[in-house]
Amino acid sequence: MRQLWGHYPRLQQRGRTVVLGRDGRMGQVLRTAWRLGLRATYPLWLIYLEVDGLLSHRLSIAHMKHDWNDRARRDARLFVALDAGQTDDQYRKSGEQQVADLIESRLDVLLPGIDPQDADVLELGCGTGRMTRPMSGLFRRVTALDISAEMVTRARESLRDHGNVSFVVGSGIDLTGLPDHAFDLVVSFLVFQHIPDKAIVRSYFKESARVLRSQSTFFFQVRMPLEQERHLLRRPKGTWIGALYRPDEVVADLSQAGLDVVESWGHGTSSLFVIARKGK
Ligand SMILES: C[S@@+](CC[C@H](N)C(=O)[O-])C[C@H]1O[C@@H](n2cnc3c(N)ncnc32)[C@H](O)[C@@H]1O
Repeated sequence: MRQLWGHYPRLQQRGRTVVLGRDGRMGQVLRTAWRLGLRATYPLWLIYLEVDGLLSHRLSIAHMKHDWNDRARRDARLFVALDAGQTDDQYRKSGEQQVADLIESRLDVLLPGIDPQDADVLELGCGTGRMTRPMSGLFRRVTALDISAEMVTRARESLRDHGNVSFVVGSGIDLTGLPDHAFDLVVSFLVFQHIPDKAIVRSYFKESARVLRSQSTFFFQVRMPLEQERHLLRRPKGTWIGALYRPDEVVADLSQAGLDVVESWGHGTSSLFVIARKGK
């Protein structure tokens, strides 16, 4: 593979024909395809032609599904909360604490004029259900979505007694299967920071706007580069460190999706928290 790559030094974009190595992306796509065994399904010339198009997203998605299923099988809790050796109790409390700090303390901003017990909430990237559990006590219904079937299996098992929670294994790029105007709040934490392709995050912004009722709220977190990480602003490799954002970029992408920023914080740190509202 390395040899093959070496035979195609930096090509240019010509019409629909693409591009090797503008930012190392071609190499990443080829390596991913190779690793996932997609070379049988997608011949290299096709990957080569479509690298900047749909296939690039499909490969990112296949890559994410593969890696998160693998992480769930190896040690789901470690990869969710990055805390090795936590007891069940500590892990549960970490979810409760985050829901209390991030969500419960801001219910008046997140659900203006709505009784939380009447609210339908979507959690995007639920993992093992660490935050889903306390949210199920706060809201009428929680729909918990994740790209990884292995994560969802663990979450479903752990919350089998919580009748107001339902689970969805998502496509990894959109909210297909969830109806328009169905939720009062969409939340997502520690998820976009792992997504390598900004087009996928932009798609989630648009999809969140689609499934939200008018005047409803999208509350999420993205990763920003620390001063010493400016070089990571290039497209990342892999599915652990995802794309990094500048706050103005987030505002612009949200606005494209029909969402206006109400509040944001974390500027100057590695995590930007954003509360955005859908228009009418
Ligand atoms: C670090 S865990 C956080 C889980 C949960 N939000 C929490 O804080 O407990 C990241 C989760 O995002 C999910 N994820 C990663 N990429 C995703 C994507 N493209 N669409 C939906 N979920 C994704 C992973 O499968 C994983 O369960």
